[in-house]
Amino acid sequence: MDLEHLTPRHIREIEPYVPSRPDDELKSMYGCRLLHRLNNNENPLGPPPAAQAAVNRFPPTSAALYPSGDAFHLRQALAETLHMHPDQFLVGNGSCELISCVVRAFCAAGDNIVTSDQTFAVYEWVAQQTAVERRLVPLNEYTFDDEAMLRQIDARTKVIFLCNPNNPTGTYWQRARVMQFLQRVAGRCIVVLDEAYFEYVEDPEYCDGMRLLDQHPNLIIFRTFSKMFGLAGLRIGYLAGAPNVVDVIRHAYIVYSVNSIAQAAAEAALRHAREHIEETRAMVREGKKLLRAGLAQLGLQYLCGEGSYCMIKVPMSDMLLYRRLMRRGLMVRTMTGFRFPGWIRVTIAGRAVLQQFIEALASEVAGPAGSR
Ligand SMILES: Cc1ncc(COP(=O)(O)O)c(C=O)c1O
Repeated sequence: MDLEHLTPRHIREIEPYVPSRPDDELKSMYGCRLLHRLNNNENPLGPPPAAQAAVNRFPPTSAALYPSGDAFHLRQALAETLHMHPDQFLVGNGSCELISCVVRAFCAAGDNIVTSDQTFAVYEWVAQQTAVERRLVPLNEYTFDDEAMLRQIDARTKVIFLCNPNNPTGTYWQRARVMQFLQRVAGRCIVVLDEAYFEYVEDPEYCDGMRLLDQHPNLIIFRTFSKMFGLAGLRIGYLAGAPNVVDVIRHAYIVYSVNSIAQAAAEAALRHAREHIEETRAMVREGKKLLRAGLAQLGLQYLCGEGSYCMIKVPMSDMLLYRRLMRRGLMVRTMTGFRFPGWIRVTIAGRAVLQQFIEALASEVAGPAGSR
């Protein structure tokens, strides 16, 4: 078999993502008894109690049955909660699946997407996998650059991906800036606002994209149950848009990709999350305060905006620091892969864990200069 002949060049050129090993493996590799995962922006408080109860209630025999192919009840719940129509939603196996659906629905060979070079990498990866051109616009002061992005739009631009707030920098556009950008795009292409961290944002001027859908039929909003709702392991997220746009995306969608337990847990989370959101926000608020104070004392540059994470510039290789922190049972995200070499990203956790992180960081960055 001539595997090279069978494999298109754009697939051969992709560097596959290497997922981290399971915790038991990592613990024995790094010789730590406990491992705190501060690498994936998961919610350390877990899912809301109602979602946990929904998982517990799931009848094991129902595992034999296919799930609702269009997440019927969850879309009803979304429609009720957000005051929209169920046909405005498409539920996916994590919002990552929906990124892929959107690119495949709108882009053909020769088309392009526009996004940033220092943002959630899946937009770029999906474009690469589907042989779609990626136009990666540098951030301006760690923030999506509207002017530069507008300059990149041409007749073959089909989708613009804006991560708001941006993962990993935590910067975001307020409502007025999003509205102005949409006005200037003027319906020439689809604009995706990825609001994966929507529920964490406390700024009243932040843009709730759902409220703009009526005036902008080219707008699509992504949200996920992986972050605030603590359901990352069940893989469930959704997009919202105008019914005719969502209908087009459905053409590129694989039905039955969202399992029944995820649908039940997400519905429960959505309907009963108020206290959970308040509790999580309070933890994140306190955690950021603690972290900012600790980092200032260490004299380290950091970006700690909206979202459940902070980025820290470290005076050594991010990979080296990762390995050293792993030995202390703390797993952070190295940022070289996000094109931020020498930075790490840390998920905001509870006070005790963050205190442990700050102490560990302090002793690592204060080590002998020769080892940096
Ligand atoms: C900005 C952003 N969008 C989307 C996702 C993917 O979420 P999901 O777990 O729903 O695929 C993430 C996950 O880290 C993210 O940070």
